[in-house]
Amino acid sequence: MDIEIQEYAASHRDLAWSFREAEDSEQLLESYIDLGRVWVARVDGEIVGHLQAVVRNADTWEVTNTAVAERVRGRGVGRALLEGAVAEARATGATRVILATATADVGNLRFYQRCGFRMTHVVQDAFATYRGYPPGIEVDGIPMLDQVWFERIL
Ligand SMILES: CC(C)(COP(=O)(O)OP(=O)(O)OC[C@H]1O[C@@H](n2cnc3c(N)ncnc32)[C@H](O)[C@@H]1OP(=O)(O)O)[C@@H](O)C(=O)NCCC(=O)NCCS
Repeated sequence: MDIEIQEYAASHRDLAWSFREAEDSEQLLESYIDLGRVWVARVDGEIVGHLQAVVRNADTWEVTNTAVAERVRGRGVGRALLEGAVAEARATGATRVILATATADVGNLRFYQRCGFRMTHVVQDAFATYRGYPPGIEVDGIPMLDQVWFERIL
């Protein structure tokens, strides 16, 4: 499968359908969707995934949202998007890429560690209802409550 990664020049909101694959809070999504830079992955010309990254300080980029269409998951698209962002971050002189995910999503924990990220800390109750998350979300039977942060030193 040929995967092409390109920066997305149009409005990030055109990709809201893909952002929503990785964000259950409409309130939070609204607060960050327009920020930073976005890259898309295309297969046969069709967008099958995206990654958004925001510069946090001179050293650090944060991957704020990334998702791959369900039908092509497990075929290297997520890794290609992450490696593309890491290469861009390095090219601008950044020394660290950070990101967060739900501790409940054990598949994501494997994904990020297979892509060279290491855990730094856990934020309990990050997915609380006051931040716009619907109550009672579970991932594979695990309540989605806590968030784990990862970093990759470049
Ligand atoms: C997480 C996500 C972006 C991964 O994208 P992907 O294209 O499926 O990932 P890749 O095929 O590049 O996988 C890279 C490695 O991670 C592993 N991996 C990816 N998803 C995995 C999962 N759910 N469970 C276990 N391993 C997984 C792959 O097996 C592969 O490992 P390998 O090197 O041993 O073969 C995708 O599953 C997704 O869009 N999920 C829904 C949205 C989401 O959760 N986004 C992240 C929010 S923080």
